[in-house]
Amino acid sequence: MKLWGGRFKKAENKLMEDFNSSLSFDRTLYYEDIQGSIAHVKMLTKCGILTEEECEAIKGGLNSILSDIENETLLIEGDYEDIHSFVETNLIQRIGQVGKKLHTARSRNDQVAVDLRLYAKKKAFEVVENIETLQSVMKTLGEENNCLMPGYTHLQRAQVVTFKHHIMAYYNMLHRDKKRVLNAIEILNESPLGCCALAGTTYNTDRAFTASELGFKKPVDNFLDGVSDRDYVIELLSCFSIMMMHLSRLSEELILWSTKEFDFIQIDDEFSTGSSIMPQKKNPDAAELIRGKTGRVYGALMSLLTTMKGIPLAYNKDMQEDKEQFFNALDTVLSCLKVMSGMLSTLKIKKENTFNAVKKGFLNATEAADYLVNKGMPFRDAHKVIGEIVLYCEEKDKAIEDISLGELKNFSELFAEDVYEFIDYKNTLDRGIKKELK
Ligand code: ARG
Repeated sequence: MKLWGGRFKKAENKLMEDFNSSLSFDRTLYYEDIQGSIAHVKMLTKCGILTEEECEAIKGGLNSILSDIENETLLIEGDYEDIHSFVETNLIQRIGQVGKKLHTARSRNDQVAVDLRLYAKKKAFEVVENIETLQSVMKTLGEENNCLMPGYTHLQRAQVVTFKHHIMAYYNMLHRDKKRVLNAIEILNESPLGCCALAGTTYNTDRAFTASELGFKKPVDNFLDGVSDRDYVIELLSCFSIMMMHLSRLSEELILWSTKEFDFIQIDDEFSTGSSIMPQKKNPDAAELIRGKTGRVYGALMSLLTTMKGIPLAYNKDMQEDKEQFFNALDTVLSCLKVMSGMLSTLKIKKENTFNAVKKGFLNATEAADYLVNKGMPFRDAHKVIGEIVLYCEEKDKAIEDISLGELKNFSELFAEDVYEFIDYKNTLDRGIKKELK
C-alpha cells in the first residue's frame, strides 16, 4: 500500500515502516486532504490535463470516501504511510485506474503543505471564536461585579481598584491575543499547492485557480519556500503561548483568591474537585490544569522551532514532526478557553470580603498624600508625612480614615475636615483619570 516502490529491491523493514508512518496523527487532516485533491483535479481538468469524465469519476470517488469517513463506515486505519496514501489507495480501489491520475502534477510535499495550512486556518478561526466567547463572559462578570477590591503590586495591597477593572485587564490581553491570531491567519493565507516536490511542474497548471478554490488569497511566490515553510505553525504556537501565559496568570489569581487566606471568590462546584482523603477539600483543579497545560503549549513552540532550525531547503522528513505538537497544542488551547469560560461564568465574587481587604491595606495612602499636595505640600514631603501616619496607624491597629483630625494635625497642619471625604475609597475612584477604573 505504498505510493512508491518502483526503484526498491527489498521491502521496507517493519521497524522503519512504523517509525515512518504518520497516519495515526495526520488522519486529522482527512477533510483538508480531500478538499485539496478535489481542487487539484478541477484545476487539472480546466487546464486540459484530465478529461471531464475523469474529473467526475475522481471527484465522485473522493466525495464518497469523505462521506464514508464521516459516517464511520470507512475507518482511517491500516498500514498506510500517511493520510495521503490512505485516500489515494482507497480512491484507486473504488474507481480503478483513473484514480491513478489524481497525483499528476502534484507531490506529497505541496499536498501536505496545503492540507496543513487549510487546517491551521480553520482551527485558528475556531480559537478566535473561543477567545471572543471568553471575552464576553469576562465583560459580563465585570459588569455584574463592579465592586471595590485591593489592587496589588509585589502581591502587597497597593491601591483601590474594582473587580471589573481587574478582570477587564485580562479582556484586553485577550483582545491582543485575538489580533495576533488574526494576523497570523492573514500571513498564512497563501496556497502552496502547485509547488509540487520543490520546483514546480512542466505541466501548464494554474496555481491561482487552486488557491482561489481553496479560499486562499493567492498562491505563494516561491516553490522552495512554499513546500518548506512551517512559519505559520510556529507563529500560531507563539500566539497560543502568549495567550496561555495570560490564561495561566489569571488561573494563578483565581487559585490565590479562592484560598481561605484571600477568600475573594468562590469557584463553582461544577469546576472544582475534591480530595479522596480530606473530606473538607474543594480544589481549584480547573485553574491549576490551565496553569499546568501552559507548559505543553510552550513545549510545542520550542519543539518545532528546534526541529526547523537546521533544515536545508526544501522538504525534509523532519517536518513531519510538526503535526502532533501542533494538534495537541490546538486541542489544549481550545479546551483551556472553554473551561476558563465555564469557570468564570459560574464564579461568585465575595464583595464583602474584597471590601474588607480594601479597608485593611492603607489603600488610600497615596490619595492621602495627594490631598496634602493639593494643599500645597511637595509630593516627596507628603509621601514622608503619610508614611509616618501609616506607621502610627499600624501601632494603633487603625485605618487612616479612623484617626481623628486632631491626631492628623500632629503630622501636618494642612489637614482639615475635608480629608475624610477625599480619601474615602469610593470617592477616590471618582476623581481624574481613575474614573476609568469603574
Ligand atoms: N507525512 C509527511 C509529512 O507529514 C507527508 C509528506 C511526505 N513527503 C515525502 N516526500 N515523503 O510531512
